[in-house]
Amino acid sequence: MRTPFLLVTRSCKAIHRLQQSAFVSSVSALYRHQTISVLRNSSTVSCKDDRSYYITTPIFYVNASPHLGHLYSAVIADCLHRYKLLQGFNSKFATGTDEHGLKIQLAAEAAGKDPLTFCTDVSERFKHLFNSCNISYTDYIRTTEQRHHQAVKHFWSVLWNKGLIYKGSYEGWYSTQDESFLTALQVGDAVDSSGNEIKVSLESGHKVEWMKEENYMFRLSAFRSQLLDWLKGNPRAIQPELFYQVVLKWLQEDLPDLSVSRQRSRLQWGIPVPGDAEQTIYVWLDALVNYLTVAGYPDKHNQWWNVAHHIVGKDILKFHAVYWPAFLLGAGLPLPQTIYVHSHWTVGGKKMSKSLGNVVDPLERSKQFTTDGMRYFLLRQGVPDSDSDYTDDKAFKLLNAELADSLGGLLNRCTAPALNPAQVYTAFFPQSFPSEQGGRAVGEDYHMLEAVKNLPAVVEQHYESMHVFKALEAISACVRQTNRFVQRHAPWKLERSDIRDQRWLDTIIHVSFECLRMYGTLLQPVVPEISDKLLSRLGVQPDERGLADVNFLPKIRGMNCPFEGRVLGSDTGVLFTRLENLDIDKQNPKKTKKAKK
Ligand code: MSP
Repeated sequence: MRTPFLLVTRSCKAIHRLQQSAFVSSVSALYRHQTISVLRNSSTVSCKDDRSYYITTPIFYVNASPHLGHLYSAVIADCLHRYKLLQGFNSKFATGTDEHGLKIQLAAEAAGKDPLTFCTDVSERFKHLFNSCNISYTDYIRTTEQRHHQAVKHFWSVLWNKGLIYKGSYEGWYSTQDESFLTALQVGDAVDSSGNEIKVSLESGHKVEWMKEENYMFRLSAFRSQLLDWLKGNPRAIQPELFYQVVLKWLQEDLPDLSVSRQRSRLQWGIPVPGDAEQTIYVWLDALVNYLTVAGYPDKHNQWWNVAHHIVGKDILKFHAVYWPAFLLGAGLPLPQTIYVHSHWTVGGKKMSKSLGNVVDPLERSKQFTTDGMRYFLLRQGVPDSDSDYTDDKAFKLLNAELADSLGGLLNRCTAPALNPAQVYTAFFPQSFPSEQGGRAVGEDYHMLEAVKNLPAVVEQHYESMHVFKALEAISACVRQTNRFVQRHAPWKLERSDIRDQRWLDTIIHVSFECLRMYGTLLQPVVPEISDKLLSRLGVQPDERGLADVNFLPKIRGMNCPFEGRVLGSDTGVLFTRLENLDIDKQNPKKTKKAKK
């Protein structure tokens, strides 16, 4: 799928530059929002090349306020979107809210509000969270919008006209919390908080009820072999691999037809079935079509629909990897290129839930840890293949160690007036650090250069398989190596009056700056504000921050370095302020251990 960066057309490159420049000095909240709106507007400009990319988050249910897990889905998508922009792609990034269905209808009733007002309130809370956390979506979709209603009705009519939907009756289990139909094998016994015996979904633990109603069925069973063919022919379609195997296993099992509507008498809050006012379209069919609505379905979706990638949590894998591709095959549309699956955040080893009182408020935490701190923690510590447990203490330690001490400390050292009185991007002297071992550099220094040089490829591989934590691990390991490099040669001990020492000192700083420039460039998708601060301090201009500009340490290869001799950017303070006196009230780590027991 990838083409060399150089193939980017001039117009796209210009947009890309604009997008990059939008990251500059976005520290104040006001400016940050302007920044994001520049990003949004610019990426709706159509590029006449095939380097388009379309990434989506799931759309979020509005029955409750956003929590940390929701932000996680959004941060992963934002990171991939920003990474694609860095690569020069024209990237579209959609998120939004899922507002129909019984669950929302009941939540609105419980809140004593009319459903649309209720949905608008909660949808605004999600939007506020995403704006506050620099989620640079280019489209925010709500399923209550007209454009979406039209897309869903059209999609339904296509399936209907192809004979893929028929009137039938469903009798079986339904979970309102999951808005999902379950077979007897997926249901187990449990006792609710009042001691009543109930049936629950074995997967989600949510209560299920027996229902019997006339509704429309989709011929899901007819698509089993096509789905298998798709997956066998596209082994990277579902990532990580573990989830690909899970879906393959599901497809070996029985795949009954799927109920795709509910009786209007039970569910009013939804899109009516075209031509049958007695039935409401099943909320999952409605919700999945959001990806097409944003792409411009039914008239002008091709540019984006051929390059669609979905981020989903593991709990909604079946909807995205079985139902959705079957609907798309039925409608004669291309399938998503990748479904990236992530696991969950738990607290005290348990799923976050209101009743357990362990819900982590992402807005509150991002005020404590800063927006970039929160983003870094989620992506550095979140592992797609298995659940991660959240504690404030972990975040506190990680951010202090990696952002404040290691990365911030390195920048601080090399820009300190004591070592760099002229405040310039110092010169590199090949006599001190020749391309072949010699001069004053030692073997470990060459190993470090090798690791940093290879970093873009390593990071790309990990970003593209959604192992962002591995990319960050690799960057963090290199930052530590660069710190050791500085420590090893102790430039503060060099005798400046000796020309040889002065040159070696300049060379050490130059090499460290080159490493920092690499880290700042690669970290932009994860910590946009910190990266901006770092690159600005180094004097790297907004149009010099793309992946194609990275060209690491050209002087060692006898090439010109455009940064050498430049005056550094102004000192705007430490990169990441150490977190002190953290008020860990909600989640005392000791309590967490107890809860685990
Ligand atoms: N509305 C559906 C998605 C429809 S997409 C066509 C939905 N919404 S949700 O609000 O319940 O979940 C949205 C996303 O948040 C899912 O990817 C889900 O996995 C994720 N998370 C919800 N809780 C989570 C954690 N505790 N941890 C990580 N992510 C989790 O499902």
